Amino acid sequence: MSEEDTRLTAGTTSLLVEPVPRLVGHLAVPGDKSISHRAVLIGALCEGETRITGFGRSADTEATIAAVRALGVEVYEHGADTLRVFGKGLHGLTAPGGPIDCANAGTLVRLLAGILAGQQGQEFELTGDASLSARPMVRIAEPLARMGAGVETTDGRLPLGILGRSLRGIDYVLPVASAQVKSAILLAGLYADGPTTVVEPAPTRDHTERMLRAAGARVDVRPTSVTVHRATRLSLGEVEVPGDFSSAAPFVVAATLVPGSELHVHGVNLNPRRTGLLEILERMGARITVYNRREIGGEPGGDLEVRSAPLVGTTVGATEVPLAIDELPLFALAAACARGESRLTGAAELRAKETDRIEATVDALRALGVRARGSEDGLAVTGVPARPRGGRVASRGDHRIAMLGAVGGLASREGVRIEDADAVAVSFPGFFAILDELRRTSVVVEDERR
Ligand code: S3P
Repeated sequence: MSEEDTRLTAGTTSLLVEPVPRLVGHLAVPGDKSISHRAVLIGALCEGETRITGFGRSADTEATIAAVRALGVEVYEHGADTLRVFGKGLHGLTAPGGPIDCANAGTLVRLLAGILAGQQGQEFELTGDASLSARPMVRIAEPLARMGAGVETTDGRLPLGILGRSLRGIDYVLPVASAQVKSAILLAGLYADGPTTVVEPAPTRDHTERMLRAAGARVDVRPTSVTVHRATRLSLGEVEVPGDFSSAAPFVVAATLVPGSELHVHGVNLNPRRTGLLEILERMGARITVYNRREIGGEPGGDLEVRSAPLVGTTVGATEVPLAIDELPLFALAAACARGESRLTGAAELRAKETDRIEATVDALRALGVRARGSEDGLAVTGVPARPRGGRVASRGDHRIAMLGAVGGLASREGVRIEDADAVAVSFPGFFAILDELRRTSVVVEDERR
């Protein structure tokens, strides 16, 4: 990033990320977005106070705070990353006069829908921005209606109307592997008479199951299904949010690709349902070591050491997809710098994200001079084990595509100009500041080595 561009970071729409000779240093990333959403939403259903530390503040999680406030929950903010949520109990939420704006946050709209389905006799309307309003909602409307809630989509999308009713437990086989849909049903299951079971076609992130258990709910976990039982009282007390693996991932890929790098990322969530990218990169030849393994906030966590390494192409298929769902654009970039062809299949879900991420990723790679093509459910990349040329990447307002562009810029020969770079604020507002700092420390190390 040039000096001038750095100063423009806040509110800018276009940002140049210049190549870096190496990446050396230590960093920590903000709290996990999935866990932060869940801590606020489940905290809102608890009795008394939930204290959340390490909260991952972002546009998405701010929308969650605003949503529970609109439902009558008091949330106090202490400094950047500590929240106190004063829960209203399972049945204490009150419908606001107007719609609840879920902004860009898929996790918020889906999980909240599950909760509101159980608020008997109350009516709610959920809306979102243009991107969220284009995403599929039948996947939650259908099972919640089957449980007895009144749910109405607008041609399968937002705005979503919900009438809370008394719910019955269901056995539900998920048609797509989705933690958001699974979580919506499990949260509604807290209100159902009789157990609610969700069967997964492939394992997805299990943060909801873990947090509901910590809050005192009865949750039975089996290898391919989860059952939740009606709850009478929840209490979380303290939640420590670990660093977000999805926010660490851009730095992990950058340090892998930029020769001579040695990077440490501290305090990262390493839940195996989230770290599929590590396995994929290791298969490609990456040199990543996990150390100081420990539990952080009821989840597996630890520190990462990443050294650059030459990569070889690989194939990623359907069972691995949910374990690396938000990191698949970064996998494609790593594949672009690996020797040989790489393939991604069974990833049609990428077309239902903040953007069509198959199309957005292929376009971004092509803009950098990489040979890539999309398919119905994935993509193929012809890798060249060298720095890609660079170019201009349109984020399309998608935070993960903006970060893909940034990592591409660091690893490129000519740099990458990212259009609509502030999209990163959806999950990681401090992304460019950390990148800048890392560039500075890496240059100091470079000078000392001379
Ligand atoms: C999330 C689940 C995933 C993921 C999203 C966060 C969650 O979505 O892509 O960023 O917090 O449950 P799907 O469940 O729709 O795959």
